[in-house]
Amino acid sequence: MKVTIFGTGYVGLVTGACLAEMGNHVVCVDIDEAKVERLKQGVIPIFEPGLDAIVRRNHAEGRLDFTTDAATAIAHGELIFIAVGTPPDEDGSADLSYVLAVARSVGQHLDRYVVVVNKSTVPVGTADRVRETVAAELAARKASVEFDVVSNPEFLKEGAAVEDCLRPDRIIVGSSSPRAVAVLRRLYAPFNRNHERLVVMDERSAELTKYAANAMLATKISFMNEIANIAERVGADVELVRRGIGADPRIGYHFIYPGAGYGGSCFPKDVQALERTASSHGYQAQLLDAVEAVNRRQKGKLFELISRHFGGELRGKTIAVWGLAFKPNTDDMREAPSRPLLEALWQAGARVRAFDPEAQAETRRLYGERDDLLLCEDATTAAQGADALVVVTEWKAFRSPDFVRLRDTLAGAVIFDGRNLYDPAAVEEAGLAYYGIGRGRSLQVTR
Ligand code: UDX
Repeated sequence: MKVTIFGTGYVGLVTGACLAEMGNHVVCVDIDEAKVERLKQGVIPIFEPGLDAIVRRNHAEGRLDFTTDAATAIAHGELIFIAVGTPPDEDGSADLSYVLAVARSVGQHLDRYVVVVNKSTVPVGTADRVRETVAAELAARKASVEFDVVSNPEFLKEGAAVEDCLRPDRIIVGSSSPRAVAVLRRLYAPFNRNHERLVVMDERSAELTKYAANAMLATKISFMNEIANIAERVGADVELVRRGIGADPRIGYHFIYPGAGYGGSCFPKDVQALERTASSHGYQAQLLDAVEAVNRRQKGKLFELISRHFGGELRGKTIAVWGLAFKPNTDDMREAPSRPLLEALWQAGARVRAFDPEAQAETRRLYGERDDLLLCEDATTAAQGADALVVVTEWKAFRSPDFVRLRDTLAGAVIFDGRNLYDPAAVEEAGLAYYGIGRGRSLQVTR
């Protein structure tokens, strides 16, 4: 099928590449000329496993093209996806100006039936606004063209985006138009082979489904961080508690890992946007408020442990940081827990020696050159001579260090394990003090 995608960010580029991979002819549009030029040359702006290979192959084989020309792109597709950004505005609501600009553009150029597909995460009611915007442009030029607007939210995870996109666990199609649903069924048929993955519903329910999914996952994480903070105080180990509750299939093992707080481009933004949506309808979403408050506090957790360990005196100390990206397999630093940690360490007068397998360039871009930040070529170099080691992102490469060697590499014998990767006994056996998240022991050490 012929598909047009507005926006070559995470969602747009991955969706475009995966749809091309399934044999569709895809044109991706972006307003950023330099980015479009680079994409044509096979330069992918983000680090995402498997993405560059499928972008290059499908581009070379003529199924995936990039342009800045909205008019030709709109002339191309039977389906027009909107996958542009919806950044939070000052009060946390999603800013729809990019989405509506695409809708205007579609209305200005449309000359036959198309299905406009909203893939961006957008507040409930946006499908209606997109429909009205397209219709207003058509009316302004007295054109009578039929079209449908469908909400088809994306559930891909960074670091596993291509895999998630090629093998979705469900495909939400929000539309009350049988004609549009038939077009989407055809598009998604190759993704929908072994069992029915399409869940068809109205537009508003589809829009809310996306927020509900992310808010539920964020809630699980904040809940677990809360339990971790209680565990720490009562001398229990949250890792054992996690296994104990995860065995109940009603709870499950996924997304109950305590840590340094959730980050990324979705959870923080979507929880806030849903709170705003609720309050704009006169409802105070108390649970969501708490999810967010717990997360905000959790992002200060590692600094709090470090500061307490050093008796509040961090001036002149050097702290090694392993992991800067908000999670492994990405170079994304948006809302990463490493950021409040770095900033608090600097504020307290400490220096940082950091290593991340992918996010160092992004760290440099965010913070520039500074005396109190040394980006190191590997994990061991980062630990060299540091007064403490903090693990912030659970990259595989950090999972089983040689603790004895590490004790010799570090100047100070202490590890802050922000992801509970290590067995506290093994760390302590090597002669290093261990702090985890909610492991009871941090209390023992600091009591
Ligand atoms: C998320 C959703 O998973 C995805 O379905 C949606 O489309 C976009 O938002 P993503 O932001 O890429 O994806 O990352 P995810 O793997 O969900 O992790 C989000 C954050 O939660 C990370 O900071 C991660 O470290 C944290 N997390 C996750 C925990 O702290 N504990 C967990 O148990 C799981």
